[in-house]
Amino acid sequence: MTTKVSTYAGSGMLEGLDDSNIVTTRNLTKKFGDRIAVNQVSLAIPKGIAFGYLGPNGAGKTTLIRMLLGLTQPTSGEMVLRGYRLPSHRSAALSKVGAIIEEPRFHPHLTGRENLEVFASVRDKEAFGRISGALERVGLGERATERVRGYSLGMRQRLGIARCLLSDPELLILDEPMNGLDPGGILEFRHLIRSFVDEGRTVVISSHLLDEIEKTCDAVAIVDSGQVVKQGNLSELTGISTGTALFEVNSSDLAQSVIAETRLTLGATKISDTELRVQLAKGIPTSQITKALVDAGIAVESILNETTNLEDEFLAITNKSGVQL
Ligand SMILES: Nc1ncnc2c1ncn2[C@@H]1O[C@H](COP(=O)(O)OP(=O)(O)O)[C@@H](O)[C@H]1O
Ligand SMILES: [Mg+2]
Repeated sequence: MTTKVSTYAGSGMLEGLDDSNIVTTRNLTKKFGDRIAVNQVSLAIPKGIAFGYLGPNGAGKTTLIRMLLGLTQPTSGEMVLRGYRLPSHRSAALSKVGAIIEEPRFHPHLTGRENLEVFASVRDKEAFGRISGALERVGLGERATERVRGYSLGMRQRLGIARCLLSDPELLILDEPMNGLDPGGILEFRHLIRSFVDEGRTVVISSHLLDEIEKTCDAVAIVDSGQVVKQGNLSELTGISTGTALFEVNSSDLAQSVIAETRLTLGATKISDTELRVQLAKGIPTSQITKALVDAGIAVESILNETTNLEDEFLAITNKSGVQL
């Protein structure tokens, strides 16, 4: 990939930024008058993963996606898609990108298949050849001859995905794709997204729901008031933290020796006769440490996880902005 950069540097390919990612942004900012909708966002989205852009309503998710698709111009900052700079090399960058922004729009009086035909007719010949496969893929094969007017929201979302597939995308960008779906629909959607990732495609999903992102994505950026406050692999950000926890026990001396024997942690420091700060090891939840202590006859009064995990962090953001989950 580095050769690609240097060879094509003069034609708008990425210069000076790491091009191993399918999407890179640097200090991307969008202002509407005095309001900053997207504030200095620097993203690095690797190829072949599902990436979640998670934030409460009004956090700037749709605005970011609109910039990535060249639908609105950034106020400042840089972005590169598939190795091509935007907005200068928009058509090259977007030739293998499929996207749905907010709700997908269709001609209601046309059938699902006809809608895809209309779309394919302004694309290349290959797009036409992909229509049947795309409809099957999203589970609309049997309903494709019905007018979209009668489609449920879930069916329209799936038709939107089918439309994305017509360009055989390397990158799918889906803005809140699971909004309004019932639990069964969400589950199907999740499987579909994972199957795209299995094929080597990259999927970027925005959402205001932590649960959707946690269950679907490999990596996440959390956005608050236009700013990315955290970014990384989900396995690093969720669940088992590798920080510290404060255990309140009936005897910190006893607890310390039990913990040393079990080797479940990276160490423990006595804070007081009844308090012990434990250095957590990756992959070992606090519940396992508690069990070992209780099994050894130690009473565990409370555990204070001192490292905020993704859920704590996201709840703090949404509580602050008054958004109800
Ligand atoms: N075209 C626009 N003109 C003015 N303000 C806008 C426009 N689009 C979005 N905004 C504002 O930018 C902020 C982010 O909006 P948006 O990107 O839609 O957030 P999200 O998709 O995360 O809900 C909001 O405060 C919104 O009101
Ligand atoms: Mg939005």
